[in-house]
Amino acid sequence: MIQLVPSILAADFSRLGEELQIIEDAGVKMVHIDVMDGMFVPSISVGLPVISSIRKKSSLCFDVHLMVEDPARYTKQFAEAGADIITIHAEAAKHLHRTICEIKTMGKQVGVVLNPSTPLNVLDYVLDDLDSVLLMTVNPGFGGQDYIPQMTRKISELSAIIKERGLNVNIEVDGGIKLSNVHEVIEAGANWIVAGSAVFGKDPSQNVKEFHKIFQKYQK
Ligand code: DX5
Ligand code: ZN
Repeated sequence: MIQLVPSILAADFSRLGEELQIIEDAGVKMVHIDVMDGMFVPSISVGLPVISSIRKKSSLCFDVHLMVEDPARYTKQFAEAGADIITIHAEAAKHLHRTICEIKTMGKQVGVVLNPSTPLNVLDYVLDDLDSVLLMTVNPGFGGQDYIPQMTRKISELSAIIKERGLNVNIEVDGGIKLSNVHEVIEAGANWIVAGSAVFGKDPSQNVKEFHKIFQKYQK
């Protein structure tokens, strides 16, 4: 199932609740929340208090992308704050398999994120345990960057591995995805499409509808 996962990084934080309501009313089911610690990536974004406060207002599925060093330190707190999916960077986790197991034990969905230069083979022994793999299609840390074209081949290769192993793992893509290039990532095998600036631009509701119109062509 193809899902649009708007990233709140590009939303107007002074009216976050309202922005979430607008995308939910337009038919979105999941929202992407970028947590940046100023160490793993240069920026600092939002954290636990923001997630707990929007959790009280929104029934969207919260997809929490942890761009933090040693994410095992925080998974429990993000689970308690209201994350539904917790996604950790392979590059930042000291004991990736252990942390994946801990997230699952808390009853949450778990994803692993790879930076653009990280090869797919780091997933080899953990893929069976995952609900999703998030492929960064820009270098993490900022919204509004350009899609890295080599990532299309990475998506296709991951899709082939998942099929070959008969797994049911969602392929999420994040960074530089717009109405103009979303076809390319879907055709390569991505099904959770994160988009920040392409959704929270001038008219989020209309932008969501445009994405959904494209998705319809691919839904079986
Ligand atoms: C970047 C973040 C992204 C970002 C995407 O580090 O992980 O989720 O919000 O923004 P756009 O869609 O504008 O590239
Ligand atoms: Zn993200």
